[in-house]
Amino acid sequence: MNEINENSLIQIDCLKGLQLMREDSVDLVLTDPPYNIGGHMKSRGSGIHRLRENHFSICDWDNIDDDLWKEQMGLLAKNLFTKVKKGGAVVVFMAVIKVESIKRIFEEAGFYYKTTGTWHKKNPMPRNMNLSFINSTESWLYFTKGKPSGTYNNEGKAIHDFIETGLTPLSEKRFGKHPTQKPIKLMAHFVELLSNKGDLILDPFSGSGTSLLAAKMSGRKYIGFDMDPDYIEISMNRLQGYVAE
Ligand SMILES: C[S@@+](CC[C@H](N)C(=O)[O-])C[C@H]1O[C@@H](n2cnc3c(N)ncnc32)[C@H](O)[C@@H]1O
Repeated sequence: MNEINENSLIQIDCLKGLQLMREDSVDLVLTDPPYNIGGHMKSRGSGIHRLRENHFSICDWDNIDDDLWKEQMGLLAKNLFTKVKKGGAVVVFMAVIKVESIKRIFEEAGFYYKTTGTWHKKNPMPRNMNLSFINSTESWLYFTKGKPSGTYNNEGKAIHDFIETGLTPLSEKRFGKHPTQKPIKLMAHFVELLSNKGDLILDPFSGSGTSLLAAKMSGRKYIGFDMDPDYIEISMNRLQGYVAE
Protein backbone atom coordinates (compact mmCIF):
# COMPACT_ATOMS: atom_id res chain seq x y z
CA MET A 1 0.00 0.00 0.00
CA ASN A 2 1.22 3.54 -0.77
CA GLU A 3 1.24 6.49 1.57
CA ILE A 4 -2.14 7.20 3.18
CA ASN A 5 -4.22 10.12 1.92
CA GLU A 6 -6.05 12.53 4.17
CA ASN A 7 -9.70 11.67 4.90
CA SER A 8 -9.02 7.92 4.85
CA LEU A 9 -10.31 5.11 6.99
CA ILE A 10 -8.43 1.82 6.73
CA GLN A 11 -8.98 -1.67 8.10
CA ILE A 12 -5.54 -2.43 9.45
CA ASP A 13 -3.61 -2.99 12.66
CA CYS A 14 -2.76 0.54 13.73
CA LEU A 15 0.94 -0.25 14.19
CA LYS A 16 1.08 -1.26 10.52
CA GLY A 17 -1.09 1.68 9.47
CA LEU A 18 1.26 4.13 11.18
CA GLN A 19 4.15 2.85 9.05
CA LEU A 20 2.28 4.14 5.99
CA MET A 21 1.91 7.68 7.30
CA ARG A 22 4.11 10.69 6.64
CA GLU A 23 6.38 11.89 9.47
CA ASP A 24 5.37 15.11 11.26
CA SER A 25 1.98 15.22 9.54
CA VAL A 26 -0.58 14.96 12.37
CA ASP A 27 -1.93 17.95 14.32
CA LEU A 28 -4.00 16.02 16.86
CA VAL A 29 -4.23 12.33 17.84
CA LEU A 30 -7.62 11.79 19.46
CA THR A 31 -8.08 8.18 20.48
CA ASP A 32 -9.80 5.72 22.73
CA PRO A 33 -7.66 2.56 22.74
CA PRO A 34 -8.61 -0.78 24.30
CA TYR A 35 -8.22 -0.29 28.06
CA ASN A 36 -7.28 -3.94 28.69
CA ILE A 37 -9.61 -4.21 31.65
CA GLY A 38 -11.62 -7.18 30.32
CA GLY A 39 -9.62 -9.63 32.46
CA HIS A 40 -9.84 -7.37 35.50
CA MET A 41 -13.64 -7.09 35.15
CA LYS A 42 -13.96 -10.85 34.72
CA SER A 43 -11.91 -11.61 37.82
CA ARG A 44 -14.17 -9.23 39.79
CA GLY A 45 -17.32 -11.06 38.63
CA SER A 46 -18.62 -7.95 36.87
CA GLY A 47 -21.03 -8.56 33.99
CA ILE A 48 -19.28 -5.97 31.81
CA HIS A 49 -16.64 -8.47 30.63
CA ARG A 50 -19.27 -10.40 28.64
CA LEU A 51 -20.04 -7.36 26.53
CA ARG A 52 -16.39 -6.53 25.96
CA GLU A 53 -15.40 -10.16 25.25
CA ASN A 54 -18.02 -10.47 22.51
CA HIS A 55 -16.90 -7.40 20.74
CA PHE A 56 -13.16 -7.50 21.16
CA SER A 57 -12.66 -11.18 20.37
CA ILE A 58 -10.38 -10.41 17.42
CA CYS A 59 -8.84 -7.34 19.00
CA ASP A 60 -6.67 -8.91 21.64
CA TRP A 61 -5.52 -5.68 23.24
CA ASP A 62 -8.58 -5.60 25.50
CA ASN A 63 -7.94 -8.79 27.38
CA ILE A 64 -4.23 -9.59 27.36
CA ASP A 65 -1.41 -9.87 29.81
CA ASP A 66 -0.81 -6.41 31.25
CA ASP A 67 2.92 -6.38 30.36
CA LEU A 68 2.08 -7.17 26.74
CA TRP A 69 -0.54 -4.39 26.69
CA LYS A 70 2.05 -1.94 28.04
CA GLU A 71 4.53 -3.11 25.39
CA GLN A 72 1.91 -2.54 22.64
CA MET A 73 1.03 0.88 24.02
CA GLY A 74 4.75 1.72 24.16
CA LEU A 75 5.17 0.82 20.48
CA LEU A 76 2.09 2.87 19.66
CA ALA A 77 3.37 5.92 21.56
CA LYS A 78 6.82 5.72 19.91
CA ASN A 79 5.29 5.46 16.45
CA LEU A 80 2.86 8.28 17.14
CA PHE A 81 5.71 10.51 18.24
CA THR A 82 7.26 10.37 14.75
CA LYS A 83 3.94 11.21 13.04
CA VAL A 84 2.79 14.14 15.21
CA LYS A 85 3.99 17.63 14.20
CA LYS A 86 6.03 19.76 16.56
CA GLY A 87 3.42 21.64 18.61
CA GLY A 88 0.81 18.93 17.91
CA ALA A 89 -1.13 17.13 20.63
CA VAL A 90 -2.43 13.75 21.77
CA VAL A 91 -5.57 13.00 23.78
CA VAL A 92 -5.88 9.39 24.96
CA PHE A 93 -8.97 8.12 26.75
CA MET A 94 -8.23 5.57 29.46
CA ALA A 95 -9.68 3.70 32.43
CA VAL A 96 -8.92 5.58 35.65
CA ILE A 97 -6.80 2.69 37.00
CA LYS A 98 -4.51 2.80 33.92
CA VAL A 99 -3.76 6.52 33.89
CA GLU A 100 -0.34 6.23 35.53
CA SER A 101 0.79 3.62 32.96
CA ILE A 102 -0.26 5.77 30.01
CA LYS A 103 1.39 8.88 31.46
CA ARG A 104 4.69 7.03 31.86
CA ILE A 105 4.52 5.31 28.46
CA PHE A 106 3.82 8.52 26.51
CA GLU A 107 6.44 10.50 28.45
CA GLU A 108 9.01 7.77 27.70
CA ALA A 109 8.13 8.11 24.00
CA GLY A 110 9.02 11.82 24.21
CA PHE A 111 5.63 13.53 24.66
CA TYR A 112 5.17 16.40 27.12
CA TYR A 113 2.52 15.53 29.72
CA LYS A 114 -0.05 18.31 30.19
CA THR A 115 -2.94 16.98 32.23
CA THR A 116 -5.38 14.23 33.11
CA GLY A 117 -9.10 14.97 33.02
CA THR A 118 -12.39 13.24 33.63
CA TRP A 119 -15.34 12.41 31.43
CA HIS A 120 -18.48 11.96 33.51
CA LYS A 121 -21.41 10.01 32.08
CA LYS A 122 -24.63 11.47 33.44
CA ASN A 123 -26.76 8.36 32.86
CA PRO A 124 -24.53 5.25 33.25
CA MET A 125 -25.98 1.74 33.54
CA PRO A 126 -26.78 1.36 37.27
CA ARG A 127 -24.90 -1.95 37.48
CA ASN A 128 -24.54 -3.37 41.02
CA MET A 129 -25.96 -0.12 42.40
CA ASN A 130 -26.84 -1.67 45.76
CA LEU A 131 -23.35 -3.09 46.22
CA SER A 132 -21.02 -0.27 45.32
CA PHE A 133 -20.47 3.05 43.53
CA ILE A 134 -21.74 3.16 39.97
CA ASN A 135 -18.93 3.36 37.46
CA SER A 136 -19.63 6.68 35.72
CA THR A 137 -16.24 8.13 34.78
CA GLU A 138 -13.39 7.59 32.36
CA SER A 139 -10.14 9.52 32.20
CA TRP A 140 -8.36 11.25 29.35
CA LEU A 141 -4.73 12.31 29.20
CA TYR A 142 -3.45 15.26 27.19
CA PHE A 143 0.11 15.51 25.84
CA THR A 144 1.93 17.82 23.44
CA LYS A 145 4.96 17.21 21.26
CA GLY A 146 8.05 19.39 21.21
CA LYS A 147 6.54 22.37 23.04
CA PRO A 148 4.85 22.71 26.43
CA SER A 149 1.73 24.18 24.76
CA GLY A 150 -0.07 23.70 21.48
CA THR A 151 -3.30 24.90 19.87
CA TYR A 152 -5.75 25.86 22.62
CA ASN A 153 -8.88 27.59 21.31
CA ASN A 154 -10.41 28.54 24.65
CA GLU A 155 -11.37 32.01 23.42
CA GLY A 156 -10.70 33.54 26.81
CA LYS A 157 -12.87 31.05 28.70
CA ALA A 158 -11.70 28.91 31.62
CA ILE A 159 -12.06 25.30 30.47
CA HIS A 160 -12.23 22.72 33.26
CA ASP A 161 -10.50 19.34 33.08
CA PHE A 162 -13.95 17.78 33.46
CA ILE A 163 -16.52 17.14 30.77
CA GLU A 164 -19.98 15.78 31.30
CA THR A 165 -22.30 14.25 28.68
CA GLY A 166 -25.02 11.64 28.46
CA LEU A 167 -24.23 8.19 27.08
CA THR A 168 -24.12 7.98 23.28
CA PRO A 169 -27.69 8.59 22.08
CA LEU A 170 -29.44 6.01 19.89
CA SER A 171 -29.61 8.55 17.08
CA GLU A 172 -25.79 8.24 16.79
CA LYS A 173 -26.07 4.45 16.45
CA ARG A 174 -28.38 4.31 13.48
CA PHE A 175 -25.69 2.83 11.20
CA GLY A 176 -24.86 0.08 13.74
CA LYS A 177 -23.59 -0.21 17.29
CA HIS A 178 -20.15 -0.29 18.79
CA PRO A 179 -19.87 -1.47 22.44
CA THR A 180 -17.76 1.50 23.56
CA GLN A 181 -19.00 4.17 21.16
CA LYS A 182 -18.27 7.68 22.46
CA PRO A 183 -20.75 10.56 22.01
CA ILE A 184 -19.93 13.00 19.18
CA LYS A 185 -20.24 15.90 21.64
CA LEU A 186 -17.37 14.51 23.72
CA MET A 187 -14.99 14.10 20.77
CA ALA A 188 -16.03 17.45 19.26
CA HIS A 189 -15.00 19.16 22.51
CA PHE A 190 -11.36 18.10 21.99
CA VAL A 191 -11.35 18.59 18.22
CA GLU A 192 -12.53 22.20 18.51
CA LEU A 193 -10.35 23.12 21.49
CA LEU A 194 -7.10 21.47 20.38
CA SER A 195 -7.07 21.83 16.59
CA ASN A 196 -7.90 24.32 13.85
CA LYS A 197 -9.89 24.07 10.64
CA GLY A 198 -7.91 22.16 7.99
CA ASP A 199 -5.78 20.33 10.59
CA LEU A 200 -5.24 16.57 10.39
CA ILE A 201 -6.76 14.43 13.18
CA LEU A 202 -5.63 10.81 13.59
CA ASP A 203 -7.48 8.07 15.47
CA PRO A 204 -5.53 4.77 15.38
CA PHE A 205 -8.43 2.93 17.16
CA SER A 206 -11.34 4.60 15.42
CA GLY A 207 -14.10 2.06 16.28
CA SER A 208 -17.38 3.43 14.94
CA GLY A 209 -15.56 6.55 13.73
CA THR A 210 -16.79 9.09 16.29
CA SER A 211 -13.56 11.13 16.44
CA LEU A 212 -13.33 11.13 12.63
CA LEU A 213 -16.91 12.29 12.30
CA ALA A 214 -16.31 15.06 14.86
CA ALA A 215 -13.26 16.09 12.79
CA LYS A 216 -15.25 16.13 9.54
CA MET A 217 -18.12 18.09 11.13
CA SER A 218 -15.65 20.77 12.28
CA GLY A 219 -13.84 21.13 8.95
CA ARG A 220 -10.76 19.11 9.94
CA LYS A 221 -9.15 16.28 7.94
CA TYR A 222 -8.92 12.79 9.39
CA ILE A 223 -7.20 9.41 9.19
CA GLY A 224 -8.63 6.41 11.05
CA PHE A 225 -7.59 2.79 11.57
CA ASP A 226 -9.52 -0.15 13.00
CA MET A 227 -8.93 -3.88 12.70
CA ASP A 228 -12.60 -4.86 12.67
CA PRO A 229 -14.37 -4.79 9.28
CA ASP A 230 -17.80 -4.33 10.88
CA TYR A 231 -16.66 -1.16 12.65
CA ILE A 232 -15.05 0.12 9.47
CA GLU A 233 -18.38 -0.31 7.68
CA ILE A 234 -20.28 1.54 10.44
CA SER A 235 -17.73 4.37 10.33
CA MET A 236 -17.86 4.64 6.53
CA ASN A 237 -21.64 4.92 6.67
CA ARG A 238 -21.50 7.51 9.43
CA LEU A 239 -18.91 9.58 7.56
CA GLN A 240 -20.77 9.35 4.24
CA GLY A 241 -24.10 10.06 5.97
CA TYR A 242 -22.84 13.42 7.19
CA VAL A 243 -22.89 16.14 4.59
CA ALA A 244 -21.66 19.59 5.64
CA GLU A 245 -24.24 22.37 5.24
C1 LIG B 1 -12.50 1.51 22.58
S1 LIG B 1 -12.79 1.17 20.92
C2 LIG B 1 -12.94 2.76 20.13
C3 LIG B 1 -14.36 3.27 20.10
C4 LIG B 1 -14.49 4.62 19.41
N1 LIG B 1 -13.95 5.69 20.22
C5 LIG B 1 -15.94 4.95 19.07
O1 LIG B 1 -16.46 6.00 19.47
O2 LIG B 1 -16.57 4.13 18.40
C6 LIG B 1 -11.26 0.57 20.39
C7 LIG B 1 -11.22 0.07 18.96
O3 LIG B 1 -9.89 -0.34 18.66
C8 LIG B 1 -9.93 -1.40 17.73
N2 LIG B 1 -8.62 -2.07 17.82
C9 LIG B 1 -8.13 -2.86 18.79
N3 LIG B 1 -6.87 -3.20 18.56
C10 LIG B 1 -6.51 -2.58 17.40
C11 LIG B 1 -5.31 -2.50 16.64
N4 LIG B 1 -4.21 -3.14 17.02
N5 LIG B 1 -5.30 -1.75 15.50
C12 LIG B 1 -6.43 -1.11 15.10
N6 LIG B 1 -7.60 -1.15 15.78
C13 LIG B 1 -7.64 -1.87 16.92
C14 LIG B 1 -11.13 -2.23 18.15
O4 LIG B 1 -11.66 -2.96 17.05
C15 LIG B 1 -12.10 -1.14 18.67
O5 LIG B 1 -13.06 -0.81 17.69
